[in-house]
Amino acid sequence: MSPTPNKPRVLVTRKLPDAVEARLARDYDAILNPEDKLYSSEDLVVATAGCQGLLPCPTDKLTAEAVARLPASLRVIATFSVGYEHIDIEACKRRGIAVGNTPDVLTDATADIALLLMLGAARRAYEGERMVRDGSWGAWGPTKMLGVHMTGKRLGIYGMGRIGQAVAKRARAFDMKIHYHNRSRLSPEREQGAIFHAEAEDMLPHCDFLSINAPSSPATNGFLNAERIRRLPDGAIVVNTSRGPLVDDEALIAALNSGKLAAAGLDVYTGEPAINPGYRPIRNAFLLPHLGSATTETRNAMGFKALDNLDAFFAGRPLPAKVV
Ligand code: DGY
Repeated sequence: MSPTPNKPRVLVTRKLPDAVEARLARDYDAILNPEDKLYSSEDLVVATAGCQGLLPCPTDKLTAEAVARLPASLRVIATFSVGYEHIDIEACKRRGIAVGNTPDVLTDATADIALLLMLGAARRAYEGERMVRDGSWGAWGPTKMLGVHMTGKRLGIYGMGRIGQAVAKRARAFDMKIHYHNRSRLSPEREQGAIFHAEAEDMLPHCDFLSINAPSSPATNGFLNAERIRRLPDGAIVVNTSRGPLVDDEALIAALNSGKLAAAGLDVYTGEPAINPGYRPIRNAFLLPHLGSATTETRNAMGFKALDNLDAFFAGRPLPAKVV
């Protein structure tokens, strides 16, 4: 394909919503991926030859080695995601490659899914749904399919950034008492009466429900391990809409199987979509396939935000959502 004069050449690694691709095609010499094939890191390096920009997704692994091998022409990476742990940021810094992400626009959609997970896990949505479909639904019974009440319970939020705060806002509609752990305490206006715990360990005994909302990083990965699960009240419910590596899968699976935890709701997994097979048979795990940002409105907004980053870069302005 020969480059379009005056338009920066941008490799777009996945099939994006039509409205986003229309803007890409209008403003860039865009290499699209209509068949939505997955690029390996190696393929990505080869395909970026001659590109000035790259618009990847969390499914693309831009390791230090891959970044080091990107062509000299490549000057900006605008990821279609708020999370950027799939990109080696230090390697980008070394290469002088600008990186932008898509915060804010997926906050509500992701918080909605956190509430769906809380309710789905607490009220045994997976088991109930299956019973209706497979014909095993017997007569209604006063002691059948009892779940856990959510209204009025204590919710602990690990990571009180934008999404954590949006989860808290929704949980208040259920009269939940909010506890949180965050690197720094929020202002009283943002806290809205939530109880701050400087140490996550101190928050855990207060969590009838625990929502994991911190980004993945070396400091947060492995957060929910066997030791911290022990600190949760018996019968607690855990939900994760952040990233899989924050949870020690073996520890969580053991706690669900033993009854230490009443249930879990998960939207993200280590190694997804190849999740730990131990989750599959567990009836008290309500499992979704990384749907946090999966609404048409949100995915359009994410695409536009990634494009705003590219537009700014090529116009010589600071990236509106700059990572580095
Ligand atoms: C993100 O943007 O990081 C999300 O995980 C995608 O849903």
